[in-house]
Amino acid sequence: MRNIVVFVFLCVLFDSPIFAKSPLPSICPEIANRARWGARTPLEVDYAIIPVENVIIHHTVTPGCSTENECASLLRNMQNFHMETLEFHDIGYNFLVGGDGIVYEGAGWHKVGAHTRKYNTRSLGLAIIGNFTSDLPNKKQIQSAKDFIQCGVEMGELDINYKLFGARQVSSTASPGLKLYREIQNWPHFTGTPPN
Ligand SMILES: *[C@@H]1O[C@H](CO)[C@@H](O)[C@H](O)[C@H]1NC(C)=O
Repeated sequence: MRNIVVFVFLCVLFDSPIFAKSPLPSICPEIANRARWGARTPLEVDYAIIPVENVIIHHTVTPGCSTENECASLLRNMQNFHMETLEFHDIGYNFLVGGDGIVYEGAGWHKVGAHTRKYNTRSLGLAIIGNFTSDLPNKKQIQSAKDFIQCGVEMGELDINYKLFGARQVSSTASPGLKLYREIQNWPHFTGTPPN
């Protein structure tokens, strides 16, 4: 009994603000949590085993967004569409990168998203907000996406030998758009032969 009391006490203590939360690795870009964009509560949460071995790049094929207000509003609409029309448990992507360079938390770290059939349990679905069929994301957006992936590695969320590829390589979609697909072929860990 006493052990339990001490244990609970320590849990409360270490979670309290008098102990600073361990800082994120310095490479991490600004990450806006769900509360910041007004996300709805997911209907269900499934946990993924970490470190996650694959990073799959998508585009959202929506208009872009260049301010936090714009991006937040776009994300709320997307979440509604995913939950109400597509009947997902939550917004499908794990994270989304805005044209403002902020990375928005979708389903989040070590969660199973709904973005790439057969790969959801073993990949992080990273969506770049916009349509990149014939345009590239802006420089800030590209840098944030790349830094974010390295941030995931340093946090232990992503395998240090993770494989990166585009959704189109493993499913019948044009995502992440031809222009962006060409771009990610120059990113670290890009693989032309994704795992089955
Ligand atoms: C995406 O961009 C391409 C090329 O500009 C365009 O043909 C296509 O209609 C766009 N898709 C959507 C859904 O807007």
